[in-house]
Amino acid sequence: MKLISCENYDDLSKKASDLIVEIIKNKKDAVLGLATGSTPIGVYQNLVRENEKGNIDFSNVRTVNLDEYIGIEKENTQSYHYFMNFNLFDRINIDKNNTHIPSADSKDINYCKEYDKLLDEIGMRDIQILGIGPNGHLAFNEPASSLNMRTSIIDLTEETINANSRFFETKDEVPKHAISMGISDIFNSKVLIVIASGKNKKRALRKFLDTDKIDPQFPVSFIRLHPNCYLFVDKEALES
Ligand code: PGA
Repeated sequence: MKLISCENYDDLSKKASDLIVEIIKNKKDAVLGLATGSTPIGVYQNLVRENEKGNIDFSNVRTVNLDEYIGIEKENTQSYHYFMNFNLFDRINIDKNNTHIPSADSKDINYCKEYDKLLDEIGMRDIQILGIGPNGHLAFNEPASSLNMRTSIIDLTEETINANSRFFETKDEVPKHAISMGISDIFNSKVLIVIASGKNKKRALRKFLDTDKIDPQFPVSFIRLHPNCYLFVDKEALES
């Protein structure tokens, strides 16, 4: 794992997006694993800018996303479908048929099987962007997840619901369940780009850096097992 220490959020977004730009430039039909949440927004803004300048072309790029809430319509501004369209897909020259986000109307396991089938068809991604949760979750793989997990329906922990309540008017509005790509598929990528910014990530980052123990109760620790993982962190997240 390569730890890249960044000055601030803008610097982190620039350094992480530079790596992605390089990959898309070298491979026109790159497959990108994308994440939602507040951290990747700066990366997406940079990708939009590079696309506008004509430096990168998304016309043959395919994407797969990590997760989505259950119980929220795709058109709802809180959905991850809306997030991806708003922050990236509507602003770049990507064919929306080449973009994939998991989706489930209920806790029916068949939604997971469908997404696994798609992931199998797509195969190894060139890059996977990942944020980390304050409790160390990866995508919505909460503590006690295992390495061989595939797409699952997740009961969100209280800590994740609390963390995500900042995006909603009230905590009661935060969905309690989500569909999430599993750790084994998250790892099926040539490169992992993990990004952590700001004081909310301090505790998780400290815990991660203090030991090299792999702990299913702390899913972010699994990233140490990936052969080509970049962890971008800014000073605010690192300072103790
Ligand atoms: P954030 O979420 O980027 O909004 O902090 C990351 C995560 O919970 O995985």
